Amino acid sequence: MSRNLSMIRDIHQHKDGTVTIGCWLHNKRSSGKIQFLQLRDGSGFVQAVVVKSEVPEEVWEAAGKLTQESSLYVTGTVREDTRSKSGYELTVTGIEIIQITADYPITPKEHGVDYLMDHRHLWIRSPRQRAILVVRAQIIRAIQQFFDERGFHLIDPPILTPSSCEGTTNLFHTKYFDEDAYLTQSGQLYMEAAAMALGRVYSFGPTFRAEKSKTRRHLIEFWMIEPEMAFVTHEENLEVQEQFVSHIIRSVLDNCRAELEVLERDTSKLEKIQAPFPRITYDEAVQFLKDNGHEFEWGEDFGAPHETAIAASHDKPVFITHYPTEIKAFYMKPDPQRPEVVLCADMIAPEGYGEIIGGSQRIDDPELMEERFLQHELSKEAYQWYMDLRKYGTVPHSGFGLGLERTVAWICGLDHVRETIPFPRLLYRLYP
Ligand code: 4AD
Ligand code: MG
Repeated sequence: MSRNLSMIRDIHQHKDGTVTIGCWLHNKRSSGKIQFLQLRDGSGFVQAVVVKSEVPEEVWEAAGKLTQESSLYVTGTVREDTRSKSGYELTVTGIEIIQITADYPITPKEHGVDYLMDHRHLWIRSPRQRAILVVRAQIIRAIQQFFDERGFHLIDPPILTPSSCEGTTNLFHTKYFDEDAYLTQSGQLYMEAAAMALGRVYSFGPTFRAEKSKTRRHLIEFWMIEPEMAFVTHEENLEVQEQFVSHIIRSVLDNCRAELEVLERDTSKLEKIQAPFPRITYDEAVQFLKDNGHEFEWGEDFGAPHETAIAASHDKPVFITHYPTEIKAFYMKPDPQRPEVVLCADMIAPEGYGEIIGGSQRIDDPELMEERFLQHELSKEAYQWYMDLRKYGTVPHSGFGLGLERTVAWICGLDHVRETIPFPRLLYRLYP
């Protein structure tokens, strides 16, 4: 039998009409002669009302049998209802049960995080987890829109790579037939090649870091957006970044009001995120930390508490620029005036969410690049192709990487990145 199904998100288009919805029972309450069904179909939630005196006996009984997460087709009349969140309610006329669910593992009572993570495949059905994944999807849409509207081309760098981009300490090793290979930490080096071919490019793909750190900001597998731009300098790179992040926030505010409400996100904080963003140098950040009672030496890298302290005095993301050359990646271009620091910036999100972007101008000088290979003990053979980019028509170029999950955590106001991705890969979790 073919059914003409409607989606809950569209039922306002059928006011006073009759619709059939394929759905699951989220929750149920009864007052003897009326049963209130909370239904969900993925597109939204709606309340359906079954009135004993108005429906055939079998419809009333079918409603009575429904348990949490039972699946069904429900038919009913769409009524405007100003008290309900969606503004509409269904008056049920028919119920066709697909399956009665027994012993659904996630009940409305509180469960521990480990238990929920073990049932992640079911947990994502909850209103809160659904809202996060909807916001994530909107952020991805906004990202693609931003770059597509500005003449960037989407390029897919490889996942299996013969060498490292961000140092060798957290590489994921695998065999590639007889050779050694690594899961990509960043597509950047390949994106540099692509920028020399297409001018302005961005990648959007999974990246992997075997980080032994168990923090609320680290995933083993996370998604990164990596734009790379030929003829773009450090300062212009920062302008693209602040425009980019402002655009993402605007897009979520415009399209995900209901989800942000489910998440109880304080949207007034997000409304303030508009370019330009403040910039401070690494030197200034170090001074700030010292002035505020932190023990910190020039040349150290910032930890989470430092980032949080620096961000706390701003209600927008902050760029920290010009880090010491020593603590940053081999490919970053030194400041011509001060070669002990590089033309780079980390963007630190407000409210303690830490670094969401890392970016820099890249070394374009072949001799200096050779020098760096020696210093960092990188094999010349493995990076020969990368050297070619400096040999055949080198140009100034810059790029950055935005961590998707940290961005989702910030925008949704979450405590931990584990809820920002459908199936998180964490230090001690590969299931489900
Ligand atoms: O600062 P990172 O390491 O920069 C790069 O990989 C550059 N190659 C990017 C580029 O210039 N094309 O990583 C970029 C961002 C970080 O700012 C952070 O948001 C995120 O990726 N990130 C992580 N997110 C979740 N879990 C982890 N383990 C992450 N490591 C980095
Ligand atoms: Mg970084």
